[in-house]
Amino acid sequence: MKVELKNIGKKYEGREDFTLRDINLDIEDKEFCVILGPSGCGKTTLLRMIAGLNSITEGDLLFDGRRVNTVPPKDRDIAMVFQSYALYPHMTVYDNMAFSLTMRKESKKIIDERVRSAAKLLQIEDYLYAKPADISGGQRQRVALGRAIVRNPKVFLMDEPLSNLDAKLREHMRVELVKIHKQLGTTSIYVTHDQTEAMTMATKIVLLDKGKIQQVGKPDDFYNKPSNIFVAKFIGSPTMNIIDGIYKEGKFISKNETIILTPSKEDKIVLEKYENKNVSIGIRPERFESGGEFGDTFTATIEVVEMLGKEKILHAKLSDGSDLVISTPGHYEYNEGEVHKFGFDINAIHFFDTETTMRIN
Ligand SMILES: Nc1ncnc2c1ncn2[C@@H]1O[C@H](COP(=O)(O)OP(=O)(O)OP(=O)(O)O)[C@@H](O)[C@H]1O
Ligand SMILES: [Mg+2]
Repeated sequence: MKVELKNIGKKYEGREDFTLRDINLDIEDKEFCVILGPSGCGKTTLLRMIAGLNSITEGDLLFDGRRVNTVPPKDRDIAMVFQSYALYPHMTVYDNMAFSLTMRKESKKIIDERVRSAAKLLQIEDYLYAKPADISGGQRQRVALGRAIVRNPKVFLMDEPLSNLDAKLREHMRVELVKIHKQLGTTSIYVTHDQTEAMTMATKIVLLDKGKIQQVGKPDDFYNKPSNIFVAKFIGSPTMNIIDGIYKEGKFISKNETIILTPSKEDKIVLEKYENKNVSIGIRPERFESGGEFGDTFTATIEVVEMLGKEKILHAKLSDGSDLVISTPGHYEYNEGEVHKFGFDINAIHFFDTETTMRIN
């Protein structure tokens, strides 16, 4: 099912400001759309409006072209999975999964078929007669998913469903969820503050900040073409370095002239109108060139080396005291206190308008 949000806004009663404003978004049939953003940006509010659990203050919500603003949750053909699994503790896994179908007065045969097929998909067939207290957190999360799947909804809504799991299990469930989505093909809207979940699972990411959409696009777009400095810094780990400076006579010059950089030919064309204006460059930690035999270079003092195995993260200082984070392959030799020369992968530099924070190129 296609879900469309047109100029959606939300103002909670008793609050001065709108929690969400001007939300325009098309979620196509079969899409896995991830709503991403920092704590308090309005993700849950948005999801609950789609579910019908929160009222919509302004704008239109359309399901397959039909306005559903005032349709009650039970008539929306959606299933929601929460962070707290919200299982009934006194019921078996089987009964938890069967519950909504029993309420709908489906036949025993249909219920049994649906529950067993979902259990198979989720690999929880062996626990069907256990109680929630007797299974692990990961298994409980699967039961919560199973309860949504048996309803065969037109849309899955998920609010941070993996956040109670440990790191390893979360990694595993990410892949499982992608596989399940491929198999069922159900339109899914998934809320998280975890950029890795968004980057790995989404066919479309919506990044929210302070109740406004910052960017909508594919994971690739977010990494390679962030629309502004907020997006640039939100996606990618370690965080993108942002260096303020000025554009002058075809060169980017940082404050105190510690970094001077000649942009690529294509960038120069776009930067022409920024002559003598404030410009910020963004460079991801993994896109520096160590040694720096080519092009513009700079020197930095390594203050801290973090060894992560496959990579080493260098926390470096420039001569003017500003900080820079550089990621290098794990087998490269770097020691704290050393001064090193670095260069840029010129094609990996992002330019931002310092005033508006919007990407220039
Ligand atoms: N029922 C409510 N009444 C008034 N304000 C609310 C209500 N629910 C949420 N808010 C406010 O709306 C804003 C967005 O909350 P929301 O729960 O949607 O954020 P979120 O992005 O889901 O955050 P988190 O990542 O922490 O779950 C917050 O400022 C919150 O305090
Ligand atoms: Mg939330």
